[in-house]
Amino acid sequence: MIILVTGSNGLLGQKIVKQLVKSKTEFVATSLGENRNSACPTANYQSLDITNSQEIQSIFELAKPTVVLNTAAMTNVDACEADEVNCRIINVEGVDLLFQAAKKRNAHFIHLSTDFVFDGEAGPYIETDQRNPLSIYARSKVDSENLLINSEYKNWAILRTIIVFGEGENLSRSNIVLWAKSALKEGKTLTIVNDQFRAPTWADDLAWACIQTAVLNAQGIFHISGPETFSIYDLVIRIGKFYGLSTDMIQPISSATLSQKAKRPPKTGFIIDKAKASLGYNPISIEESLALLNN
Ligand SMILES: NC(=O)c1ccc[n+]([C@@H]2O[C@H](COP(=O)([O-])OP(=O)(O)OC[C@H]3O[C@@H](n4cnc5c(N)ncnc54)[C@H](OP(=O)(O)O)[C@@H]3O)[C@@H](O)[C@H]2O)c1
Repeated sequence: MIILVTGSNGLLGQKIVKQLVKSKTEFVATSLGENRNSACPTANYQSLDITNSQEIQSIFELAKPTVVLNTAAMTNVDACEADEVNCRIINVEGVDLLFQAAKKRNAHFIHLSTDFVFDGEAGPYIETDQRNPLSIYARSKVDSENLLINSEYKNWAILRTIIVFGEGENLSRSNIVLWAKSALKEGKTLTIVNDQFRAPTWADDLAWACIQTAVLNAQGIFHISGPETFSIYDLVIRIGKFYGLSTDMIQPISSATLSQKAKRPPKTGFIIDKAKASLGYNPISIEESLALLNN
């Protein structure tokens, strides 16, 4: 097995690389520009923009991957809402280029998607539930899923996930858990939505599921999230309580009072029975993951 990882400078990409190094699996890590992850050996790294077909072609010729793990994406939901053209170029056209290249090599194509493919009216969701995207980011992910679902080539897996959190190096964006922890430490007043429900996902668990999907050559759609669904407000309260920080400054608000560009689904969350049964996925609790954060 030779794994080509895209987006290796991102949070999930870094966690995957860490586990691949540890298990001595053969891999090539790629991301935009320079390698920003010191845990990724220089010899394993190549710069790759997934929207550039020539770069894709030469990396595929060089690496000869048997598995492609696509974590690269435009992931900022509000930035996607403001720049639909770029969002679609990266999240749909880039995926198409990679998928075509994987197909040519008969490689297993593993793609990351999101709970935002659902409208949040009937969560928690199973893999076969009806999708109804509410934002440009969500639509781009549905369309990228469709490239695979509608293809005659079936050697693919889609891993949908929810609020991925954990620590990384030189990340271009933070995540709610790190942000809330540091804001609470500073004693800031936080206004947090109490009407959006999610199952936050420990990035290391998700990375494990990605690699396990490759190892088992698992095919189809899998829901990979943390074990529990609760409101973002409750998440921040639990973070405060876990670290013994005051939660007095956490104020609940409704989504309607926020001026977020992109519409969010109110209640997602996943039923993860399929991933448990077929991959042996067994995510740790939110408190167990908070205990593993360093800063
Ligand atoms: N994070 C979440 O809460 C969440 C929730 C649901 C689904 N997902 C999905 O899970 C996957 C991994 O997310 P993540 O949390 O690891 O996101 P991330 O930290 O934002 O990582 C994405 C990576 O993709 C890279 N990238 C962007 N455009 C690229 C391009 N044209 N070519 C190559 N690389 C490019 C980014 O580069 P730079 O670092 O240089 O910006 C970044 O390193 C994504 O598909 C995302 O949509 C994430």
